[in-house]
Amino acid sequence: MNSPLPIEFPESQDWLDCGWLDSLSSVRAPVDEINRRIVNGALDEKVASVDAKSRWIEIGAGDGKLRKWLPDWLRNQVFHTEPSAEYLQQFRLENVDAEPVEASVYDLPYDDNSIDGILGLCVFDALHDLPAAVTELRRSLRSGGHVIHFLDLGLACLETIFLDIHEAGQIPVPNYLAEPAMKSASFAGPASDGDEILNDLTLCSVDRFSQVVQYLESVGHGYGAPMRKWLNAWLDSPRSAARLFMGIVSHAGDRAQFMQMLIVVHQLTNAYPNLAMEAKSVSTVSLFCKRLSSLFSDENGFRDASSEILVGREWKSPWPSLPDQCSYFGRFAGQVVAHRAARPIPIGRVISEQAGIPAAESVLVESGILFFHAVAK
Ligand SMILES: C[S@@+](CC[C@H](N)C(=O)[O-])C[C@H]1O[C@@H](n2cnc3c(N)ncnc32)[C@H](O)[C@@H]1O
Repeated sequence: MNSPLPIEFPESQDWLDCGWLDSLSSVRAPVDEINRRIVNGALDEKVASVDAKSRWIEIGAGDGKLRKWLPDWLRNQVFHTEPSAEYLQQFRLENVDAEPVEASVYDLPYDDNSIDGILGLCVFDALHDLPAAVTELRRSLRSGGHVIHFLDLGLACLETIFLDIHEAGQIPVPNYLAEPAMKSASFAGPASDGDEILNDLTLCSVDRFSQVVQYLESVGHGYGAPMRKWLNAWLDSPRSAARLFMGIVSHAGDRAQFMQMLIVVHQLTNAYPNLAMEAKSVSTVSLFCKRLSSLFSDENGFRDASSEILVGREWKSPWPSLPDQCSYFGRFAGQVVAHRAARPIPIGRVISEQAGIPAAESVLVESGILFFHAVAK
């Protein structure tokens, strides 16, 4: 049996480092205008109008991206909050017409029942204690007040959903089942949960994963040690494992090595009924939706919690960083798809679509934002 080199896990990172936001603008640039239309459409549908006395806040405003996407009828009713002094400075530079407030979502400087609506863009997924945030949001909202959250990027921090996965006796790895090497293999394909494009995780039972590791160690396979390392990291603390995981998947080389290891191990063990990994693809976004629904519950003082992917599409001229010969570019809650055929991907409800006939060389561009809405009881 060959004995490939064990992978090394990189050090974990602090995902709320200030330098991080800088890169978000360029990532968002190709779909910025589409996102603005999606946000406008969603707010038109769910809220439609506000009276002059109503008071809305934004949490975790960062450098103010959401403010630029808000409809005119709401923008000037919103007080923006953000705990990072560095982001606040950036916010002021980019939005001279607004004065943001330094505040954490765990301790908002507003009276009980005083707020009509709370907005967030890519914030709930960045919080380490979402249940505490939900309590504070409910405290400050009046009855009938809205919570509206948009997620146009992948999850910033996996801690919340990793705790749920841990509790369910499962262990996550990157979605190796979606790799071409797995799809072309002769054994049965993966079970899937939701749309495959969003599936970025594979889950296995911890028991089965442990058996596989023991087997690899017993035959002296080179992947025994790194598989054991991931299993132990997971069992020790799903919180630290979440940071480690983000570190691995954000480095292309480490991710590729991890994937290769999982594919080899899957192929090696799949023939044995007692060792087959029994892996299942899932999306962090769908796990996150479940988490939000369970927290914005009746018990916690909310009603009508709902999540959906809202899609916008338009035709654009090709831009320099687009891969050659691409006629289609899609970005759905962090997952990117670029290919030749200009065919839309049916991943959510289309809320904004550009009218008119595209020029011959135009690229079909789609964006999908996870939209969450709940109402305070
Ligand atoms: C991924 S960034 C999103 C920023 C901005 N909303 C955007 O989408 O460009 C996550 C944001 O959550 C903020 N954040 C982290 N912990 C927070 C807390 N305890 N209360 C409020 N915001 C927090 C960060 O400072 C950061 O601005």
